[in-house]
Amino acid sequence: MMKGKKLLIGITASIAAYKIALLIRILKKAGAEVQVIMTPSAFEFIPPLTLATLSEKPVLSEFVKDQTGTWNNHVDLGLWADLMLIAPASANTLAKMAHGLCDNLLLATYLSARCPVAIAPAMDLDMYAHPTTQQNLQTLQSFGHLLIDAEVGPLASGLEGKGRMAEPEHIFRFLEQYFTPGRQELSGKKVLITAGPTREYIDPVRYISNGSTGKMGFALAKEFAANGADVTVVCGPTEATPPSSEWAEIIPVTTAHEMYEATLQKFEKTDIAVFTAAVSDYTPKQIAPEKIKKDSPEMNIKLVKSKDIAKEMGLRKQTGQLTIGFALETQNEEENARGKLQKKNLDFVVLNSLRDQGAGFGYDTNQITIIDSQGTHKFELKSKDKVAKDIVTYAIACWKRKEA
Ligand SMILES: Cc1cc2nc3c(=O)[nH]c(=O)nc-3n(C[C@H](O)[C@H](O)[C@H](O)COP(=O)(O)O)c2cc1C
Repeated sequence: MMKGKKLLIGITASIAAYKIALLIRILKKAGAEVQVIMTPSAFEFIPPLTLATLSEKPVLSEFVKDQTGTWNNHVDLGLWADLMLIAPASANTLAKMAHGLCDNLLLATYLSARCPVAIAPAMDLDMYAHPTTQQNLQTLQSFGHLLIDAEVGPLASGLEGKGRMAEPEHIFRFLEQYFTPGRQELSGKKVLITAGPTREYIDPVRYISNGSTGKMGFALAKEFAANGADVTVVCGPTEATPPSSEWAEIIPVTTAHEMYEATLQKFEKTDIAVFTAAVSDYTPKQIAPEKIKKDSPEMNIKLVKSKDIAKEMGLRKQTGQLTIGFALETQNEEENARGKLQKKNLDFVVLNSLRDQGAGFGYDTNQITIIDSQGTHKFELKSKDKVAKDIVTYAIACWKRKEA
């Protein structure tokens, strides 16, 4: 999708500038043409030699090139590009863009650009939260510019919060989705998927787990991303190959509690959540600090209930959110799945029965039944990729009904 696309990348003076080298590499690998423009202050943060080498074009920064009177034509640059990306966008440059200041080549090019403009802000959490910055971002969005929102996490200042520039892979995914025709059904929607098993440690070397591979969750992640969604996968320990970080954010976790915490952190901002993970229902009350010795003929391990992630998110669910549960049953399948629908406040439950040949853990195929308030819908045995398409199609239809 990026092949032949012409991108102007405007780099400003933020610590996050170092990440743009990686973004340029990814874009070039995908076949895009990249022209870098830097603000004069940005030179303090990344050497132009790196960017010129990776983009295979000299970096531009000055209006006038040398003593000969040759100048960098910001108007031509603005007309050349299919998209102008300002990343990292400093608070200073955002303010100037919002108010039409034009004291460097990047800003002159921005004001001349007829192409779409995308902005990836980067700054400390208080700078980001400041009403001035927020107002400037709103003004820029009111001009029709695309916001690749800052992310939450550790900041260069040592503080933690919202302000980190989106990771290069996320920016790439955003751009790729932007340029992909006909795949925009879930564009801008955030999808959260839990996948794989969890491990509940008994002692430092032994744990309780199950045979989930995460393959169904990964197939869903791929399909949601193919429909334009911004996908995050909270993933338990598995040998299966996780989705590429270019089209899904992967949050690795080990225990049920870690999966709960990671899901909780993301859930509020999620549009569609899919709970495919096989989370341990119980966890040892205590983890033995040393490896347990085989001294006695019997042993008892006291287990306590883990948090039911789907149920907990069901309690927090807002009107616009869509939540999808998975049920793997061995008996009274439909009745149990319908119970989950109610108890966990789900929009629909995807049921697979261990009685069906080729369904469940470890197989590359699955046979599902979707259960919701409208009824019961049985599907044929299919590859997990095709099952993922059925589920995503169903989810999109539900989403449209919710939005209508
Ligand atoms: C070490 C250091 C890191 C900085 N990081 C950021 C940042 O991440 N975001 C930001 O808006 N400003 C940051 N600043 C402040 C900007 O560099 C400063 O406002 C500069 O004038 C912006 O210039 P420009 O927008 O023309 O590139 C930082 C300054 C220093 C010294």
